[in-house]
Amino acid sequence: MVDKAEITPATWAVRGSFHSLVALLVASVVVAVLSLARNGSHFPPLVPNDAVSLRSATGATPSCDLFSGRWVYDNASYPLYEEKRCTFMSDQVACEKFGRRDLEYRHWRWRPHGCDIPRFNATWLLERLRNKRMVYVGDSLNRGQWVSMICLVESSIPPDLKWISYRHNHSLIAFNAVEYNATIEFYWAPMLVESNSDHPYNHRLPERIVRVQVIEKHAKVWSDADILVFNSYLWWLRPEIKVLWGSFGSADGIYKMVQVPRAYEMALNTWSDWLAVHINKSKTQVFFVSMSPTHDRAEDWGGLDGHNCYQETEPITREGYSGSGSKPELMQVVEAVIDRLRTRGFSVRILNITQLSEYRKDAHPSIYKRQWHPLSQEELADPTSYSDCFHWCLPGVSDVWNELLYNYIL
Ligand SMILES: *[C@@H]1O[C@H](CO)[C@@H](O)[C@H](O)[C@H]1NC(C)=O
Ligand SMILES: *[C@@H]1O[C@H](CO)[C@@H](O)[C@H](O)[C@H]1NC(C)=O
Ligand SMILES: *[C@@H]1O[C@H](CO)[C@@H](O)[C@H](O)[C@H]1NC(C)=O
Ligand SMILES: *[C@@H]1O[C@H](CO)[C@@H](O)[C@H](O)[C@H]1NC(C)=O
Ligand SMILES: *[C@@H]1O[C@H](CO)[C@@H](O)[C@H](O)[C@H]1NC(C)=O
Ligand SMILES: *[C@@H]1O[C@H](CO)[C@@H](O)[C@H](O)[C@H]1NC(C)=O
Repeated sequence: MVDKAEITPATWAVRGSFHSLVALLVASVVVAVLSLARNGSHFPPLVPNDAVSLRSATGATPSCDLFSGRWVYDNASYPLYEEKRCTFMSDQVACEKFGRRDLEYRHWRWRPHGCDIPRFNATWLLERLRNKRMVYVGDSLNRGQWVSMICLVESSIPPDLKWISYRHNHSLIAFNAVEYNATIEFYWAPMLVESNSDHPYNHRLPERIVRVQVIEKHAKVWSDADILVFNSYLWWLRPEIKVLWGSFGSADGIYKMVQVPRAYEMALNTWSDWLAVHINKSKTQVFFVSMSPTHDRAEDWGGLDGHNCYQETEPITREGYSGSGSKPELMQVVEAVIDRLRTRGFSVRILNITQLSEYRKDAHPSIYKRQWHPLSQEELADPTSYSDCFHWCLPGVSDVWNELLYNYIL
């Protein structure tokens, strides 16, 4: 199901090469301008890097649990940007473009109990990212969060000072704010370790195979990043999975079906060993985004049997609600692996977006996204049958994940 919807390589490649060309020109002009500006006073002032003053200025206190709270309707401050103004908007999450008429999902603000989350300030973030590289690594949910981040920062950069590049092995996409030499990238690795789903477009394969012990091919691409944001969950949602010891295509590889919680743990151990050995912990901030809940069964929230998120227009209000789309046993694996890593002196912050996203049955694309195959008569007659209840419309829930991330980055 996850692999249904992807961006076509052609679109990206064309846009990429055009932008790279423009970028080269822009970059050389900018470098010249910057070297002039540095000596003058035209440069934006550096922001205070005192997180405490930021917090007290904006109301959030370190003791407040940002992940526990409720959604409040706020059409004055939300959405934070316009869907059609965002360069990287993906057809997977552009719900208005694909016909959604009820747009209320854009107007909800996350209000933690006891504090407000600081307002997102793109300039501030870009100052923090100056001469730095931030990389999101994971699946299409993580890519949605990356798109959201680009949309959030893009609006504050003049059009001639931003560019988009496309890199050739297709797994990595980069956005660069030239004026800041700040790069925000997405790297496709849905299971973090190597798998037969690593191709960014052609990963709709009948059988999923994971090399749980191998991560280097991916990891060497992002090891030197300054900020890393990982996720990996949806691609593991099955009882068991085929694990390969050995290489793809080699005759002496050993294949074995393994229960998913165990295979997931092996993969995350490989990932955490890599972090502990190869990442400079005084340079790099590491985050792991917890599981993103799905809303495939309306019975979970008292809706009709056989329905799902299709035509849902309001969040769930029951505090602590948790549906069958969330697998706590996988969340516990993440927590255990990250706890063990902490005892080795390496800290990864979990962005615990699960509970707050559980409430948002209204915020998925359902049928309002690009369909990747022609719909059959049966499907058209029953929209729930092809509703996407796991990605999130933008602007929307992923923007809030980034606001929380922003709070920790600063
Ligand atoms: C915001 O919502 C309120 C209450 O639903 C409504 O009266 C008002 O017109 C809305 N404002 C905008 C700008 O949509
Ligand atoms: C955002 O941050 C910049 C740089 O610190 C500051 O100049 C600007 O006033 C801030 N904007 C808002 C709306 O707070
Ligand atoms: C630009 O940022 C990259 C990291 O993304 C860094 O390696 C490089 O040194 C920076 N360039 C300058 C001129 O500071
Ligand atoms: C991406 O492509 C570059 C150049 O072709 C290569 O050096 C690099 O190893 C590739 N990375 C991955 C993850 O395939
Ligand atoms: C790790 O990063 C810190 C801060 O950027 C730097 O001073 C130090 O030299 C780095 N250590 C290694 C081994 O690269
Ligand atoms: C995330 O939040 C959920 C629900 O609030 C909680 O059960 C879980 O333990 C939290 N996980 C972490 C790592 O904080």
